[in-house]
Amino acid sequence: MIDKPLWGGRFSGEPAEAARLAGSNPEADMLLAPHDIRASIAHVRALEDAGIVSPEDATAIEQALEKIGDRPFRDVFKASDEDIHLAHERNLAEELGDVGAKIHAGRSRNDLVVTDFRLWLLEQGNDLAESIGSLAGSLSARAAETAEMPMPGSTHNRPAQVVTMGYVLAAHAFGLVRDLERLAQWSSRTRTSPLGAGALATSTLGLDPAKTAERLGFDRPFLNALDAVSDRDFALEFLAVASILAVHLSRIAADLARWSEPAHGYVELDEAFTTGSSMMPQKRNPDVLELVRGKAGRIAGDLTALTQVLAGLPSGYHRDLQEDKQPVFDAVSTLKNSMPALTGCIETAHFDAERMRSDAEDPELYATDIAEALVKSGLPFREAHMRIGEVLKRLDEEKRTLRDLSSDEWANLGLPAGSKMLDPDSSVRARNMPGGPAPERVLQQCDAIRAALSSISS
Ligand code: ARG
Repeated sequence: MIDKPLWGGRFSGEPAEAARLAGSNPEADMLLAPHDIRASIAHVRALEDAGIVSPEDATAIEQALEKIGDRPFRDVFKASDEDIHLAHERNLAEELGDVGAKIHAGRSRNDLVVTDFRLWLLEQGNDLAESIGSLAGSLSARAAETAEMPMPGSTHNRPAQVVTMGYVLAAHAFGLVRDLERLAQWSSRTRTSPLGAGALATSTLGLDPAKTAERLGFDRPFLNALDAVSDRDFALEFLAVASILAVHLSRIAADLARWSEPAHGYVELDEAFTTGSSMMPQKRNPDVLELVRGKAGRIAGDLTALTQVLAGLPSGYHRDLQEDKQPVFDAVSTLKNSMPALTGCIETAHFDAERMRSDAEDPELYATDIAEALVKSGLPFREAHMRIGEVLKRLDEEKRTLRDLSSDEWANLGLPAGSKMLDPDSSVRARNMPGGPAPERVLQQCDAIRAALSSISS
């Protein structure tokens, strides 16, 4: 059957070279090859269970497939093979002759490719979960270490209220915990086996898809064969999860890059995670962070690309579906390359407590604390807000700050002299409600992050 012509009796010749090239996807063939061997072995055992292939033939086919799987890819795949599935079938027929030609009964490349792809992506999902776990772990370790380092917290990139470096790092870690939860849920939905669906409508051969699913380590078999070959939700959902993760990485990178600007100087990046300039000898640039910041757009593009492939596609297999892989490969390799770099940046960063503290002494950062002190003495918040706003306006005009208020002026406001209130440590300690920036609360948050990380990974 593998003898010329490629497409069997209905064809009298070979496909045009240009047609072959239009359909070639060597990266997919190489990455899916080991999974195609696994899926083929599970399938041949299903054929054996159904009495289509004898136990001896099934064993011979399994052994030959294993042998093929051990060979270097370049020895298995020929330029003239349309894809890895047909290459494996050709190799098998070359090994075993007619016996090898029995494997393709009751299966199609339509169910096979999507089985291979799920197996591959589930493995990648596990690796990705590990990288997210170590990034979140590093963030929470550094958060605990810097829980008592006050810094200005900002909204709109303008000084807002005093926080600590630990508080901000913990905030970023919580996003990653949600990414891990999403990935675990995605993985449980993805563990559905399509094998046995055939081209679109199963077969007459009496195969047991549930047994095949079990052999491949899936949680369940497909419930409708047409859905099994048409469905690419698992790839699309993976890209959606990856896209949200990439947004988180981008925002972590953006914060670190900003804090490492000379104007802030809160963070000094380890030299190994910076780059020089080809022209300006003095430069040490945060290229690694900028690259991670930029990757989010690329991964969002991968999600968009696959969405466009799938939208409007009628049910059943169409060759358009081969375009499901490249965006996923791109997202996976992009994340694989950037996550360890970001983790390295965080693990080796030097936090400059003095620079942060000196900026955290900016008196305007305490305006809200002072307004709240008035609220505690009975004033409605709007009134307190108005009063402090007026004081700030007057101080501005007089080129003074809250630090220059005399004890009489504090007394006029109805407050004890405010020097204690204008202190970074007291300010963060005072916001010690659950979820707040007080050091003991940040340590609790770090515990919650660690607990979540170990419960998701177990
Ligand atoms: N290589 C294809 C893919 O990646 C599978 C082949 C199915 N081809 C077909 N003409 N039914 O999706």
